[in-house]
Amino acid sequence: MTPTIHASEVADMSLAGHGEGLCDWSAQSMPILARLRERYAAEQPFAGRRIAIAVHITTETANLALTLQAGGAEVFLCASNVRTTNDAVAAYAARQGVHVHGIQGEDRETYAAHCHRVLDARPHLVIDDGADLTGLLHGARTDAASDVVAGLEETTAGIQRIRSLEADGLLRYPVIAVNEARTKHLFDNRYGTGQSTMDAVLRLTNTLVAGARVVVAGYGMCGKGVAARARGMGADVLVTEVDHVRALEAVMDGYRVMEMDRAAELGDLFITVTSSKNVLRAEHFALMPDGAIVCNSGHFDVEIDVPALRAAARKHTRPRPGVDQYTLANGRRITLLAGGEVVNLAAAEGNPATLMDMSFANQVLGCEYLLRNAARMDHRVHALPADIDDHVADLKLRTLGVGIDTLSEEQIAYLRSWDQGSA
Ligand SMILES: NC(=O)c1ccc[n+]([C@@H]2O[C@H](COP(=O)([O-])OP(=O)(O)OC[C@H]3O[C@@H](n4cnc5c(N)ncnc54)[C@H](O)[C@@H]3O)[C@@H](O)[C@H]2O)c1
Repeated sequence: MTPTIHASEVADMSLAGHGEGLCDWSAQSMPILARLRERYAAEQPFAGRRIAIAVHITTETANLALTLQAGGAEVFLCASNVRTTNDAVAAYAARQGVHVHGIQGEDRETYAAHCHRVLDARPHLVIDDGADLTGLLHGARTDAASDVVAGLEETTAGIQRIRSLEADGLLRYPVIAVNEARTKHLFDNRYGTGQSTMDAVLRLTNTLVAGARVVVAGYGMCGKGVAARARGMGADVLVTEVDHVRALEAVMDGYRVMEMDRAAELGDLFITVTSSKNVLRAEHFALMPDGAIVCNSGHFDVEIDVPALRAAARKHTRPRPGVDQYTLANGRRITLLAGGEVVNLAAAEGNPATLMDMSFANQVLGCEYLLRNAARMDHRVHALPADIDDHVADLKLRTLGVGIDTLSEEQIAYLRSWDQGSA
């Protein structure tokens, strides 16, 4: 079927100039993408290809889109969350010729309509962040799936969903789990989410972290980052987990680990990063001390049972933008940040450009790899090839001016041998 190309829909095109400054600023911290953009401009590996991107519309995402465009792709961009679009960035990307469909604070219907418009372009590659496009391509929009050669998924929550499609034997094309590249989750999820989550909490509340009890739900890559940053700011950090090994890791890292039923009574600030549902719920709100702050930095807004919090409240106020305070029947006030949406993107700027440089280098190199190899790949979730991951780390180290040693021939032979041990 022929693609339908819809005109961009952004909040205000007059913001494009402001957006350009913001994108240029973050591009200065994205040297790997800059290098790739130069190569792509010469080689045009994406010529004639339509690439759909459903990722938070931030400065870094605009730079990702422009890098693919420099390589010859026609790029279609929509948001991966209703609250995380930077309207100035969206306007700038649209001015540069990216087909952008995203408006900060759009309602769910508009969000869905924007996803559909991107799929109407009948993309060849799909870069997803949370698997909303992938979900549509396997549900209501199978009509748009026939041109899709392959997909790439940016985040843990999306891979979880795509693995469920794979397990049910439904996956229609190969997907690379970009999140599982070491140069992605070890840095973006850990150092990025750690810092930007605390940044968002401070921007919204100006609360003092030193001396506060911070409860981190989930000790995965993001949780490790959030816990480390909170501890670095002087917090007493408590961790909750459902995985025995991760819980043990948190114990050995020096945190107190306990059930949420106990942590709920103790925490001043609660941060969920689990990729699961209703981790904070009615029975926990009832136990929390007066003034407790709750927020989520996981991808979807289901980690905190917000409807239950609203239902339990006898009073609601909004003392600051993005800050909702609920007074419960017991008289205690619980403060919810960013409505339970992913707080570091909804209330701050997401993960720093220097880290997104690696995440998005993996995305574009993954696109190149898929265009060459997808026809021979099974319809399942694949790892990003290790040599790409290593190449991205190598490039990052070079841009940081960091040198490392190389193995000697003797060392290579030793490492490969089975008959050499001690001297
Ligand atoms: N905000 C951001 O910028 C950002 C960046 C990357 C990933 N994410 C999202 O953050 C979430 C976590 O990602 P990750 O990479 O850390 O995942 P992960 O799988 O490494 O870690 C999640 C951890 O949560 C634990 N967990 C699951 N259910 C739990 C529960 N009910 N109570 C306590 N712990 C529970 C799991 O055992 C696991 O250890 C995902 O939704 C991911 O998509 C957000």
